[in-house]
Amino acid sequence: MSIPFIDLKSQYRALQPQIQARISAVLEHGQYIMGPEVRELEEKLAERTGARHCITVSSGTEALLMGLMALGIGRGDEVITTPFTFAATAEMIVLAGATPVFVDIEPDTCNIDAAQIEARLTSRTKAIMPVSLYGQTADMDAINAVAARHGNIAVIEDAAQSFGATYRGRPSGNLSTLGCTSFFPSKPLGCYGDGGAIFTNDDGLAQALREIRVHGQSRRYVHTRIGVGGRMDTLQCAIVLAKLERFDWEIERRLALGERWGQVLRASGLPIGLLGRPADRSCVWAQYTVFVEQRAALQKELEQRGVPTAVHYPMPLNRQPAYAGLCPPHPTPASDFAADRVMSLPMSADLSEAVQDRVIEALQDACASTQS
Ligand SMILES: Cc1ncc(COP(=O)(O)O)c(C=O)c1O
Repeated sequence: MSIPFIDLKSQYRALQPQIQARISAVLEHGQYIMGPEVRELEEKLAERTGARHCITVSSGTEALLMGLMALGIGRGDEVITTPFTFAATAEMIVLAGATPVFVDIEPDTCNIDAAQIEARLTSRTKAIMPVSLYGQTADMDAINAVAARHGNIAVIEDAAQSFGATYRGRPSGNLSTLGCTSFFPSKPLGCYGDGGAIFTNDDGLAQALREIRVHGQSRRYVHTRIGVGGRMDTLQCAIVLAKLERFDWEIERRLALGERWGQVLRASGLPIGLLGRPADRSCVWAQYTVFVEQRAALQKELEQRGVPTAVHYPMPLNRQPAYAGLCPPHPTPASDFAADRVMSLPMSADLSEAVQDRVIEALQDACASTQS
């Protein structure tokens, strides 16, 4: 039997009555856009994170763009970010009209190296956009401190992969000026399509974001600013509300499974490197990512044994053709190193220990084959 990379079917089976009841309620009231579930979800997520405001939006990508727009970031501005991330992070900086300035990652956590940020600041730097990769936040206090030392610099956490994680006991998403997350189906908290949310404690930014979400309208047909069509639809909000019912259990499961992956892999003696796990943060493991040599061969061997893997991400963004000439050409050796070696293993709250053990056995066989 082949193993799912992310087991969304088991999750659906566990939550089927709640999901169906929520969908039926929306079909009955018929308010598909900005229905009552939108507000309900925003209130619940704001409460979870402790943020004053939660604004649901049409995707994690749109959340990043809208965050930049609300901060007034555009042409001539620079935004510091990591090249070792999904394309949306830097892409939205470019789409907003600003220049992404890439700062290399910490080789062990794969998150932006806060210690290297200061050297890249210029008078044009308007924001720092760290990514909480694989479900573990960057060193947010250190990043906030750099921003605070240099005056008017906002910090936007790309928390697309880390909703549910904590940094020094505080929830990811509510660690800086703005936090942007994604409800893409494979994320720790996912819907059944596209969706996302932005968190902030700033009333002015929240108001701007609510206007930007509906084409810059402060009232119907009064367009006070340029915006986008960025709403998350009611059905998707209803699905996230249903999934929230066992989200605490899912987080506990993810933490426990991540811990177990680490213990078993360490004990296995296999030539597999583990992600750095600073003690001051939890990791919700959007992907369980490890470092391997001879990755392509290993992936092939694993595939033959029914174990799916993925690479997040095979090429740093500053090496992608689209960014040639768009960003200052600083070397990012740790990102290059990671891009050649990272490999993600199956992970979801419904993964069983028995399946985890099957993956370990397959890894043992696959490593033996690639080394022989
Ligand atoms: C780090 C990161 N940023 C942004 C996004 C974009 O989110 P979405 O797919 O909801 O647009 C993703 C999604 O894969 C992501 O992993």
